[in-house]
Amino acid sequence: MTPSSFLPEFEPGTVWLVGAGPGDPGLLTLTAVHALGWADVILHDALIDPRILTYARPDAILENAGKRGHRPSPKQSEISDLLVAHAQAGRRVLRLKGGDPFVFGRGYEEGLALAAAGIRFRVVPGVSSGLATLALHGVPATSRDSNHAVILATGHLAEDKSLDWAALAKTGQPIVLYMAVANLAPITAALQAGGLAAETPVIAVHAATTGAEQAVAATLAELPHLAAAGRIRSPAVIAIGAIAPLRAAIAPHLAEPILDVAS
Ligand SMILES: C[S@@+](CC[C@H](N)C(=O)[O-])C[C@H]1O[C@@H](n2cnc3c(N)ncnc32)[C@H](O)[C@@H]1O
Repeated sequence: MTPSSFLPEFEPGTVWLVGAGPGDPGLLTLTAVHALGWADVILHDALIDPRILTYARPDAILENAGKRGHRPSPKQSEISDLLVAHAQAGRRVLRLKGGDPFVFGRGYEEGLALAAAGIRFRVVPGVSSGLATLALHGVPATSRDSNHAVILATGHLAEDKSLDWAALAKTGQPIVLYMAVANLAPITAALQAGGLAAETPVIAVHAATTGAEQAVAATLAELPHLAAAGRIRSPAVIAIGAIAPLRAAIAPHLAEPILDVAS
């Protein structure tokens, strides 16, 4: 028995929606590495760390499904159509997405399109950036003494009022924000209106596990100012609440970068 005998066969004419984790190739799953080694075509998001693509077959077709130069991003329907067309041509198609494909990744939408076209596909979970980033910085997503729930939220649609931020604040549970850097002013105002104190601790991590990683520990009220000053940049994971300061007790023993503490 070899390690690869535990892994499923990547059959021609199928699509695998694969999570690539936050960037560090060490956080890829075995199934993701296996898929990279078999795929005929890889359609990857713009944020995929280039180190991960080195696991691709040398003759694989690599297509960036994110922003390309100054051209606009392809529409979701165009990406789905491409997946279907490659699969119908009999290729092994790998759709590679950052983090986990089903966490703010539009993986489900692509699955729906594949199902509608009668294409068989597999979903390969990945390590979601929100949870990976916290763990790497010594912040538990949950601990027995701090919280029994954690909220993952997108800040992308903050301005269209699609999410009731005040209601989230009232739960008293920590909130882990994705895609929120551009909307920190309205989000933090809504959370404070919902009852979160201005001094609520936060940690923000930009480009976690890549060479460009930057982390800041601060308070809720400081977040918009830090973003305006360029000290929190996208992509970032931002954790708000009682879990954020828990890192202090174990941080001296971690091999992770020391946090910049906002004044
Ligand atoms: C379109 S969402 C995709 C989330 C992804 N499916 C996941 O599970 O991590 C993109 C957002 O994920 C977060 N993100 C992804 N990779 C990151 C990283 N290496 N460091 C910090 N944030 C990251 C940022 O909030 C970014 O705006």
